[in-house]
Amino acid sequence: MKPIPYTALEKAMLPLDGTIAPYVPAILDAYARIVPRARWDEIEMFDYTSGSCLMPMAFAAAGAARVTVNDAAPRSHLAAAFLFGGRKIDPARVEALLTAKRPRLRPHVPTFHFACDYLTAPVCDVFDRLYHADAPAAERAGLRYLAVRWALGFAPSMVDGFEILYTHDPAQLRTIRDVDWRPYLARAANPRKILRALVRDLNAAIDALGPRRFALHLGDMKDLAKTLRPRVPCFVAVNPPTRGLDEYTIDDQLVHSLMANRWLPLSRSRETHLDFWVKRVDAALRHLPRGAHFMVWGGDGSMSFEACKKVWEIYGSPLFISRLGTRDTAPGWGIFEAHKNGV
Ligand SMILES: C[S@@+](CC[C@H](N)C(=O)[O-])C[C@H]1O[C@@H](n2cnc3c(N)ncnc32)[C@H](O)[C@@H]1O
Repeated sequence: MKPIPYTALEKAMLPLDGTIAPYVPAILDAYARIVPRARWDEIEMFDYTSGSCLMPMAFAAAGAARVTVNDAAPRSHLAAAFLFGGRKIDPARVEALLTAKRPRLRPHVPTFHFACDYLTAPVCDVFDRLYHADAPAAERAGLRYLAVRWALGFAPSMVDGFEILYTHDPAQLRTIRDVDWRPYLARAANPRKILRALVRDLNAAIDALGPRRFALHLGDMKDLAKTLRPRVPCFVAVNPPTRGLDEYTIDDQLVHSLMANRWLPLSRSRETHLDFWVKRVDAALRHLPRGAHFMVWGGDGSMSFEACKKVWEIYGSPLFISRLGTRDTAPGWGIFEAHKNGV
């Protein structure tokens, strides 16, 4: 059985705070002990909260018959549109866009006009040449995802997010003690080298996924779950935020503003963390047919793992449970088998 090329997939996935990507190999290993890999070409994989897209990519690379991907965030939908679109990025097109004196771009507001607190003018110029390139429609998902990956690479880490640029003078930035701006400046100074490597990594993932059947959605899983009807055999990933939506809104403000080509205001969810999670877990699991397998994560938010497990057990029986530590507060994940025929 061909091993799943995690290294290639992890290089192409969308960097994201709050991802469970580090646990995806263990999750798929556990599932392979429940359903042998040799039968994965019969299963349909659903990811209601695809985020980094690593898990649906791994299932696709492992031979799943069909993969349905959803997330409510445009950054993940863009990632999925490229990663599951089967169309590689043309390195020559990227080179031409980066070196052209006046590249042909679609009408847009220069990104530096609204993102200058986080991205310098040269960094924004490269972003605009890729994201707003007047390229054939079939190439746009690749160029835009490449642009987003270029910009996200200027965050020291996805956990801490972007640092504010209190000056745009490189000499002054180098003298700042509390933030090491050298990696940022080095990246900004070598766009062609950085992007050549990124194009290689992204195209390698397209090769690893191969021609598969994909369905992409962008929306609230609560609504999508009313229309999707998974059939057995299937694997359904359900991993909504455990501490509500607000922290994602803040984390995503820059990337979504870059994609919207204007600075987006922050907003606050009107649902409690608990309501948000329970409503979405219920919506996704209540429609599953008996025998469906679902993967869930919990315990690192407003509910303890045991409290989450009580909710999951309304819909299914645990086949595999993994906790990240022995404390009661330790989060974890599980693979369950649905025991009721969906309502
Ligand atoms: C905890 S993250 C996990 C993502 C993914 N499983 C991963 O490991 O990369 C939760 C994801 O849910 C998405 N999300 C938040 N609210 C959602 C909703 N109502 N419907 C669908 N996705 C949602 C977020 O954008 C985020 O990508």
